[in-house]
Amino acid sequence: MKLRVLATADDVADVAVREVASAIRLNPSLVLGLPTGRTPLRLYDRLVAWERTGRVSFARVTTFNLDEFVGVGENTPGRYRAFMEEHLFGRLRRRPYRVHFLDGNADDLDAELARYDRTLQRAGGIDLQVLGLGANGHVGFNEPAATLSAGSHRVRLHRPTRVANADLFGGKASRVPREALTVGMGAIMCARRVLMLATGREKADAVRRMIDGPLTTRFPASFLQLHRDAVALVDRDASR
Ligand code: GLP
Repeated sequence: MKLRVLATADDVADVAVREVASAIRLNPSLVLGLPTGRTPLRLYDRLVAWERTGRVSFARVTTFNLDEFVGVGENTPGRYRAFMEEHLFGRLRRRPYRVHFLDGNADDLDAELARYDRTLQRAGGIDLQVLGLGANGHVGFNEPAATLSAGSHRVRLHRPTRVANADLFGGKASRVPREALTVGMGAIMCARRVLMLATGREKADAVRRMIDGPLTTRFPASFLQLHRDAVALVDRDASR
């Protein structure tokens, strides 16, 4: 995994928007994997600005979001689908060709997970996966564990992950669902290119473990060291 340290979070987003836009220019039918969280927000703001001024178009792009909470009501802002509408898709002049989400409200969650993996496979896998980094090393919602899963699966969220997502649920970690659906490490590791974004001092330890730490299922992001084309864009705070 390559590490690129930039001065500020804005610089990280500036580089990231150029990377994403140039990937789309090279391949207008790009299959783009997207994360939620605070980190990508600056990137999403820039993508919206670039799309509105005609510097990039999502008209032929297919997107897959990484994860979704289980059992969050349709109109709850904490739902990742709603988050993506608010911060990216709903602000574009023209939406992506296809937008895919795991449905955490499906009656049959196992069938839903299988459907997502089938859809991903039919799309030919992810061309460019943008990722954020959980402070505990999670990617998507692949939480530290004794074992990791290759395919999409249901997870029990760890306490620090629920705390990190509390802002989406009125600041109350107790309101964050206990379970979520996520793509597995397979979809992430098979992505042709990975762009990991990490900013802020609170990510510094995680960045170190991701780049230099031992490969361990107890720190899922460490597996990105095995990826052939993974770049971590981090700001100075996250690199100390
Ligand atoms: C959430 C998401 C992850 C994201 C992570 C980091 O738990 N499921 O996909 O990368 O948080 O979030 P943040 O960028 O807010 O630190």
